[in-house]
Amino acid sequence: MLQPSKGIETPFLMVSREVVEANVQRWRRSLPTTELFFAVKANNDPLILHYLNSLGCCFDTASAYEMQLVAALGVTGDRMILSHPAKDAATLAAMQKYRPWAFVADKEKEIGRVRQAGVPSGDYAPAVFVRIRADSQNVNANLSEKFGCRPERAVEVLKFSRDAGFQQFGLSFHVGTQCYEASNYRRALTACRKIAADARDSGILVETIDIGGGYCDGRVAQEKNTTHDELFEQIGRDVAELGQGFRLLGEPGRYIVADAGTIIVQVLSEYSSDQTRRRIVIDEHVYGGLSGHWHDGRIFDFIPLRPAGAKPFSPFRSVCTIFGATCDSIDRFDGEGRLTKLPADLDVGDFLLIPCAGAYSNSAGSSFNGLEPAGVIMTWTEGHELRWQLSPFARKNDFLLQMLNASGLGQHALGQP
Ligand SMILES: Cc1ncc(COP(=O)(O)O)c(C=O)c1O
Repeated sequence: MLQPSKGIETPFLMVSREVVEANVQRWRRSLPTTELFFAVKANNDPLILHYLNSLGCCFDTASAYEMQLVAALGVTGDRMILSHPAKDAATLAAMQKYRPWAFVADKEKEIGRVRQAGVPSGDYAPAVFVRIRADSQNVNANLSEKFGCRPERAVEVLKFSRDAGFQQFGLSFHVGTQCYEASNYRRALTACRKIAADARDSGILVETIDIGGGYCDGRVAQEKNTTHDELFEQIGRDVAELGQGFRLLGEPGRYIVADAGTIIVQVLSEYSSDQTRRRIVIDEHVYGGLSGHWHDGRIFDFIPLRPAGAKPFSPFRSVCTIFGATCDSIDRFDGEGRLTKLPADLDVGDFLLIPCAGAYSNSAGSSFNGLEPAGVIMTWTEGHELRWQLSPFARKNDFLLQMLNASGLGQHALGQP
């Protein structure tokens, strides 16, 4: 049986290359004319960006740092867009360096700021995508409460951009996060078509529509009785109809990486005075890889695991409150009256798998309390063998790798695409 030699370095995020690739392929099958610009914010680990680059994906960036990350892989500006509607000073300054072929703005003042930063200039004249508010329903976070102009104002912003010296134009929107209803994209696309027609009357050619991100993860799809296949087939039909005549692109983040990622944690401690309501502390937390518990309303599932050869878990279950690793008492995962049932003999040192955690986990967490963020391991299978690669950002984790290999955990935990 495997024994941890010098401490086991959890938490860890395992990301399946096969699932990432299957998600990219589904996008390309359903939306063959819509270029995929992966939203780097969803997971900015270099291993993942490198793999997506090798699949020919382009990148949606939000900041100087994200442009730098993808540029370090050899990605040139023609395969990058800058989609943050309110760019900070470093990002404005970095536009000239990385030269994203398009940037997003939702008001004249932002166009003015880009202009002041010296863009367009000489041989660098990016396209301007004017972001409009999306009139969405049933999404987790409606991003249009923050960004996007009213559709009626879009032509004014386009005209201002033209007068500021820009020559190529597009429209963009974001329907909101964890969207499982294709009708939200259809409504926003319909609005874009109307704006493009009005802009043409003002002598402005809108060439591109960017359908943004928002596509839900597999867990939400399942909860809402749909599938990614159904969702993307419908979006694909709508885009084929309403996007005719435009260059099309999208900025999926969560959809590409969420289902591919499983966080592995360990039970760190227990504070139970009552065995009918155990209080378990794990070594991840809501300020780290599991921050989606707050900002995304994510419900995480905890699947107990012992390495092959260890004593199997008891079939009896007890109700547990799971606390995160920080000193903070609101760092807990039992919101909305939800009960987590785990094996009655779950002990300190046992592992828990948290599936569907590849998006907004390592990229959205902090090292609050000085706790190191989860590292990334990318896994794939060759024949029946599990292969892996450690992120340059990750710590070395020999024991975990041995355990993955010995238990066949990779295939079990990550599922098949
Ligand atoms: C401008 C922009 N594009 C793309 C995304 C990615 O969205 P999602 O991960 O929901 O696909 C986001 C997420 O916040 C965003 O703000």
